[in-house]
Amino acid sequence: MKIISVVGARPQFVKLAPIHKAALAAGVEHVIVHTGQHYDPMLSDVFFEDLGIGAPDVHLGVGSGSHGVQTGAMLAALDAVFDEHRPDWVLVYGDTNSTVAAALSAVKMHIPVAHLEAGLRSFNRRMPEEHNRVMTDHAADLLLAPTQVAVDHLGDEGLAERTVLVGDVMTDVLFKVRDEVGARPSPLLAELGLEPGGYYVATIHRAENTDNPARLEEVVSALSGLDKPVVLLAHPRVVAKAAAHGISLTQGSLAAHQSLAYADLIAAALSSAGVVTDSGGLQKEAFLLRVPCTTVRTETEWVETVQLGWNVLANTAEEISASVTRPRPTETVEAPYGDGQAATRVIRELIRVASDRNLA
Ligand code: UD1
Repeated sequence: MKIISVVGARPQFVKLAPIHKAALAAGVEHVIVHTGQHYDPMLSDVFFEDLGIGAPDVHLGVGSGSHGVQTGAMLAALDAVFDEHRPDWVLVYGDTNSTVAAALSAVKMHIPVAHLEAGLRSFNRRMPEEHNRVMTDHAADLLLAPTQVAVDHLGDEGLAERTVLVGDVMTDVLFKVRDEVGARPSPLLAELGLEPGGYYVATIHRAENTDNPARLEEVVSALSGLDKPVVLLAHPRVVAKAAAHGISLTQGSLAAHQSLAYADLIAAALSSAGVVTDSGGLQKEAFLLRVPCTTVRTETEWVETVQLGWNVLANTAEEISASVTRPRPTETVEAPYGDGQAATRVIRELIRVASDRNLA
């Protein structure tokens, strides 16, 4: 059996790592296509190297652009790749422009599409990712859902028959990396002279928080007024927008730092007093590490983190400050994101459904 994985943005490289490992273990031919949506070495190459994925088989080199330009360039390039390989599955990940481009190209070529991380919803139609998810789920042939909540959303949209609950593949990687870095102190502590538990880790990159100058100013002023040093692991988007708006990302408690490799990020989060983020993945990683999280958004797809008390949605400067300094949440043994074996289940499902299809 042959699977083509299409990835392009940082969180997709993390999800790709356990899938690649499980595919190889099952003797599946696994072709990796990188669209080039993320091209900075710290957003891309370092993940392929550190997570043991090796180099992508095909690199489309699409780069940045408006949504239409970027997605269109991927679509135009992917047709030829799928035509050459004719895989049993195109596997798409999450909710980026790379996801929707690959799903659309493949279904139109009658190549079966599986969507990993299907069924997540924010119900916020101003998020580009929400459109990417909904369109990908409705186009795909197999919906690999990470949580029961995601399964329920797909059922509500009439997609139950194509849905399978597999668990969350990011949990697979996180548990492995947590165990590897657990005993080692984060290199960030020595570099910045920080004490364990004496700082917060922040990431802010979403369009909703960065593109409007007044909004970015509000978030920066909330972070710079916090009671402990805040290390902002700055995505190129927030760096570019802050420069364009004339806003300094190093002021008060806030200090900008370049993005970290995955293991260094996990180590930094693990010994922090809390995480402040608008990333989807980091909210969940904080929960799995049992580090209190503040999410700078009005809604989340990972509602379990909020229900269990480890994540608080905070949008205004006052809400952010109150959430970050709240008492430590109550411990929980709940495991809504699975057991760290999701990738093996994904590959098993892909093999099962493809062989049923071949027999039919
Ligand atoms: C994308 C995803 C988002 C995901 C995020 C993870 C979409 C619609 N959004 O957002 O869901 O959470 O990736 O990081 O697909 N840039 C660089 N170097 C790079 C990549 C980007 O400098 O390697 C800068 C460019 O100015 C670019 C901007 O960041 O225009 C935005 O990049 P883009 O890939 O369009 O979206 P992200 O904000 O990274």
